[in-house]
Amino acid sequence: MVLPTVYRGAASSSSPYDHSKKRWNKLVPILVALVVVAEIVFLGRLDMAKNAAMMRTWTAGFNSPVDAEKGIDGLGVIEESVHEIRGWSCEEWLEREDSVTCTRDFKRDPIWVNGGEQDWKSCSVGCTFANDRLSNRKPDAAFGLHGEPETASVLRSMESSHYYSENNLDHARRKGYNVVMTTSLSSDVPVGYFSWAEYDIMAPVQPKTEKSPAAAFISNCGARNFRLEALELLEKMNIQIDSYGGCHRNHDGRVDKVKALKRYKFSLAFENSNEEDYVTEKFFQSLVAGTIPVVVGAPNIQDFAPAPGSILHIKEVDDVPSVAKNITYLASNPVAFNNSLRWKYEGPSDSFKALVDMAAVHSSCRLCIHLATQIREKKERSNPNFQKRPCNCTRSGVTVHHLFVRERGRFEMESIFLSSSSLTLQALESAVLAKFKSLNHVPIWKGDRPSVIKGGDDLKIYRIYPLGMTQRQALYTFSFKGDGDLQYYIESNPCAKLEVIFV
Ligand SMILES: *[C@@H]1O[C@H](CO)[C@@H](O)[C@H](O)[C@H]1NC(C)=O
Ligand SMILES: *[C@@H]1O[C@H](CO)[C@@H](O)[C@H](O)[C@H]1NC(C)=O
Ligand SMILES: *[C@@H]1O[C@H](CO)[C@@H](O)[C@H](O)[C@H]1NC(C)=O
Repeated sequence: MVLPTVYRGAASSSSPYDHSKKRWNKLVPILVALVVVAEIVFLGRLDMAKNAAMMRTWTAGFNSPVDAEKGIDGLGVIEESVHEIRGWSCEEWLEREDSVTCTRDFKRDPIWVNGGEQDWKSCSVGCTFANDRLSNRKPDAAFGLHGEPETASVLRSMESSHYYSENNLDHARRKGYNVVMTTSLSSDVPVGYFSWAEYDIMAPVQPKTEKSPAAAFISNCGARNFRLEALELLEKMNIQIDSYGGCHRNHDGRVDKVKALKRYKFSLAFENSNEEDYVTEKFFQSLVAGTIPVVVGAPNIQDFAPAPGSILHIKEVDDVPSVAKNITYLASNPVAFNNSLRWKYEGPSDSFKALVDMAAVHSSCRLCIHLATQIREKKERSNPNFQKRPCNCTRSGVTVHHLFVRERGRFEMESIFLSSSSLTLQALESAVLAKFKSLNHVPIWKGDRPSVIKGGDDLKIYRIYPLGMTQRQALYTFSFKGDGDLQYYIESNPCAKLEVIFV
């Protein structure tokens, strides 16, 4: 017999999600008291789900499949009819046996972060930022180091660790921070300079009317990387640069930066440090303006490129002659230049969308989800009922595995089932798609991306990865290495929890 790989829960006929859109434009940004950050204000619109609570309407008189199976093992036909008569399946049994509710109800008892006043009503988990005592308990988290054992110490900063060494992940952990929020995609809750709402990334390309190919807005020449050297070398190689910033200024800087950039083919996006994932508005404004960013900065800047071939990267000073040659070539070849901007007409790569979509959920809400996930796991580990869950069910030599999956940016997990007869990556993707389709799931990015790249209503999976991975792992370094790897993972992680990114 063929076991259904997906349990289409009869109980959840209506979508557990409330699609009412919350616009965050009007909200006042949170005041983060202890950590002085120059975080650009996220005006992201969030389209968040209400807490999804799966209703379970279990009829009385369920039998364990193991009991029901006695004496009929291997007789597929008989077993099938027993299945029909008794009205149970492995999936239903697992759904019931594996459901151990968390002893903390985050709706009634939301995550409380000390600092600023804000109720994140649209967050998929109860999430409150407040300075006052909400109850007689301690806050779940607070910014800064404070030495309260029940309260997580949160470091939040968008500055480069090359200037603020505390922002280095290992350094911050050694100092005692429990949750690190920096531009690093390896941090617990990354805070980036990017979001669809913040920048009109898909703004149309304007005619390139300036004589000089490139513009620069570099406020000061001092920096702990080679950006000044690179600038001077480019000038020496006869690349005309209109400089509006304090460094090598040759144009009046009192202009609208993005508007000015739009008239140029290239924009020198020179950061003040070459740190992984440290990519600031210099880069994203260059994309908005429809220029080719010439980058000195993050060694992994290609991860942030909207498409292959859309940016020029000066990795080291020795690259300058080659980049200068490429600037000259592209500046004088309209077809080649236009080709580098194809993403503006045809849309950016899935990899770029998946990166920027992360910011569709405000970092404060992502902090709450991170904290709630940790609290839930801790409670689960100490709950004997949780430890006793079966997580799989075997009949006629076929094992049904129970897995849990949620969309990145949401808190609640959904059940999916995979059969040992096809424990493959393809079956996993099908099960995830079928589950979220049955819930009429609207992916998080739907409310956030510009309309030109919204696309249709089809769900498309970009990545599936174990819950708890960093975004660096999720987006760039992790993948199940084939079906055998997935099988091993599922068998050695009963009731495995996964996260999915849709694009
Ligand atoms: C310049 O362009 C060539 C050809 O497209 C490419 O191979 C080379 O890597 C580019 N150089 C830099 C530094 O981007
Ligand atoms: C650039 O390419 C796009 C298609 O990718 C096309 O629509 C546009 O007209 C081209 N622009 C120029 C100036 O050639
Ligand atoms: C079924 O689950 C149990 C306990 O959760 C586990 O020990 C066992 O290895 C699992 N069986 C398979 C085939 O994965």
